[in-house]
Amino acid sequence: MQTLTETQTGEKDFLPLNGTDYVEFYVGNARQAAYFYRSAFGMRLTAYRGPETGTRDRASWLVQQGKIRFVFTTALEPDHPAAKHVRLHGDGVRDIALWVDDADAAFRETTGRGAGEVREPETLRDEHGEVRISAIATYGDTIHSFVERRNYRGIFLPGFAPVEGDDSVARPVGLKYIDHMVGNVGWGEMNTWVDFYRDVMGFRLYQHFDDKDIGTEYSALMSKVMANGNDRVKFPINEPAEGKRKSQIEEYLDFYRGPGVQHIAMATDNIIETVTRLRDQGIEFLRVPAAYYEDLTARTGPIDEPIDSLAELGILVDRDDEGYMLQIFTKPVEDRPTLFYEVIQRKGSRSFGKGNFKALFEALEREQARRGNL
Ligand code: FE2
Repeated sequence: MQTLTETQTGEKDFLPLNGTDYVEFYVGNARQAAYFYRSAFGMRLTAYRGPETGTRDRASWLVQQGKIRFVFTTALEPDHPAAKHVRLHGDGVRDIALWVDDADAAFRETTGRGAGEVREPETLRDEHGEVRISAIATYGDTIHSFVERRNYRGIFLPGFAPVEGDDSVARPVGLKYIDHMVGNVGWGEMNTWVDFYRDVMGFRLYQHFDDKDIGTEYSALMSKVMANGNDRVKFPINEPAEGKRKSQIEEYLDFYRGPGVQHIAMATDNIIETVTRLRDQGIEFLRVPAAYYEDLTARTGPIDEPIDSLAELGILVDRDDEGYMLQIFTKPVEDRPTLFYEVIQRKGSRSFGKGNFKALFEALEREQARRGNL
């Protein structure tokens, strides 16, 4: 693994990003998907857009926790792009929307460097002001919207109506913000997309892992982490690698029918409390063997958290020269073995958990075998 600490974008730092604005999912039933994220992940329902608010062709539900905003959208017509997306991919991430100061400049700069045009800059208006929005294509059918909201004072976006009052379904678990979002791309395509994020988006290489770092007997992959200028946006890109049997990335690609978002890592300040609540609320996590914890501090050095609590919950620990981090992965949250989540707490470390890859991938392979996909 290599960590690059200096900004290496230089003159390419042409796309200032304030952070992730929202993540939009295209799903088969947004009302029910939102309910799952409220009751299990503890997100609060805050806004809605649909026929009742004047949008005829789709319904969207906004849920949030900390700075994390998820939008679930369902088509109300069979030929709507969201319906086609769900037919092909199942429920999945359509849009990783990025918060910018200038949606026109973001569109102009990126499309001028070769990004596919998805949405020309346009202004959305309502009584709370206006949002300027544009969008470009990234891997698979995934897009990046650029959202400029300095002239908007509404709840989210024009067209969305706030949902008043407390959300009695939501049971918050202490999730704060998106730490990173991982894309799976096809065989031999990782560097194409790494180049895209560098040349088109002005990102730089933050870390990379080769198959010696993260191959097990079966579930090999290669990964490079790309980050924007202020490090608020980090996108690891994975591609499958040759192994004895099917790579976990290949299983994803088979079921998602192409590249797409593999996992979303959400940060917490207290992973023991967050994971305890998530588990109580029905989220299922990958488990590593108990042996992982026997020599844990020999690998990680002293840590603040009681080892027995970590072992009980299945939380993993990794250390680098800047500190340590704690992480855990859910099982896929859908029937297709595609999207899953990571809960992460960083205590100085900028690691993505390299030291856990082997134990983790062996756990993952057991699940893959149970599905008959190994
Ligand atoms: Fe991750």
